[in-house]
Amino acid sequence: MATKLDPWGAVSIDDYSKLFEEFGISSFDDILPQIDDPHPYMKRHIIFGHRDYQKVVEAMKEKTPFAVMSGFMPSGRVHLGGKMVMEEIIWHQKHGGDAFVAIADMEAHSVRGISWDRCKEMGIEEYILSLIALGFEPSGTIYFQSKRQAVRDLAFELASAARFSELAAIYGFSGETNVAHMVSVMVQSADILHPQLSDNGGPKPVVIPVGSDQDAHIRLTRDLAGRMRKFLVEEREGRVSLRGKAAGTELIEAAAARLREMGYRKVKRYEEHIDVFDAMAKDLGRVEEEMRSLEVEAGGYGFVPPASLYHRFMTGLTGGKMSSSRPESHIALTEDPEEAREKVMKAVTGGRQSLAEQKKLGGEPDKCTVYELLIFHLSEDDGELAEVYDECKSGAKTCGTCKKEAAERIRDFLVDHQQEREIARERLAEYGL
Ligand code: TRP
Ligand code: SF4
Repeated sequence: MATKLDPWGAVSIDDYSKLFEEFGISSFDDILPQIDDPHPYMKRHIIFGHRDYQKVVEAMKEKTPFAVMSGFMPSGRVHLGGKMVMEEIIWHQKHGGDAFVAIADMEAHSVRGISWDRCKEMGIEEYILSLIALGFEPSGTIYFQSKRQAVRDLAFELASAARFSELAAIYGFSGETNVAHMVSVMVQSADILHPQLSDNGGPKPVVIPVGSDQDAHIRLTRDLAGRMRKFLVEEREGRVSLRGKAAGTELIEAAAARLREMGYRKVKRYEEHIDVFDAMAKDLGRVEEEMRSLEVEAGGYGFVPPASLYHRFMTGLTGGKMSSSRPESHIALTEDPEEAREKVMKAVTGGRQSLAEQKKLGGEPDKCTVYELLIFHLSEDDGELAEVYDECKSGAKTCGTCKKEAAERIRDFLVDHQQEREIARERLAEYGL
């Protein structure tokens, strides 16, 4: 069965390694050693894949500008899955990224039929308060799609580079799909690219932390970013070659002049492209950056293709998928801490039929939703996790005590978090909300 990556459908990903081959997502393991102070999700392989994250890692290292952006559809209660994205955004903000968070009210309105008032209320009550409570700083930007003119304008612009046939192929849109749903796809691309507009400091690497169900959006947006470019700089037969797709004669001329100013002597200009015979593969990055600046000076976008991070999904507490429509499968950040505690006490574990069997065979932490809660949310300490894992496997630990500990931690976390949310409520004005 082909892996299904449908942003509006149910997610079923049986084997994450397939995503690497089928969709060209790169494995995160390869890049992990280059990150100085990795987030626990990185170390614990919960973030398993990426596109182009290399550029962001370099920017973090060299302290050059980069941004992080993601969005939330205000269509239900925010649960632990949403918390994961929030933490990833905040981590990048703390590591120097300019942070942007979209409340996708246009998407919720057009795809789910949620009223604007309700979108606003849910955006604030569910998502924004928790985001701030978890540590999002006011130096970042939180916005509602419908209220952000630059995003709406960019969406319109991007729509001229997108064709119905490709949206149909990517998302299964048909003649029956409402047009606003299609518009909301363009708005999401605009969300992702707008940190690179001049008003936000111009082109830069931007990382989008998401669940892998959102990869279709990322691929489309990366394509659109390329289509908006005026220049394509590439290596051909060992030398640098530049194509001015939509550049026009004047800009091609300006590019040739700029290349000569850069010191290249063998710049040969054709109608729509330029070959630089004395620029080699190693010069590619330098030429690319210079042409990007030229493009921006000439009023173009110069977009860098957005990077992305993909995390694994948590299993629902009842086994199977975690779903926002089934309260018993998830823990909402706003739910009663006592009820959350009880849910964990009833959660599906990797324990055996009987205590005797457990002692003999040991438990299966890899199949245990309680262990997942610990690694995803409830333990900061890798040493402690290793201990729980070993004790579970060896049969020394019993599910009863293990659950009780996790259940108390989730209760305590929610009590604290909900207090933080009330403090956040008083601070909304600092975020322009
Ligand atoms: N479509 C996303 C969702 O269903 C929400 C979203 C809107 C988003 N804009 C975004 C996600 C930009 C990442 C980046 O949850
Ligand atoms: Fe899960 Fe803990 Fe039971 Fe092991 S002992 S299966 S980790 S609940």
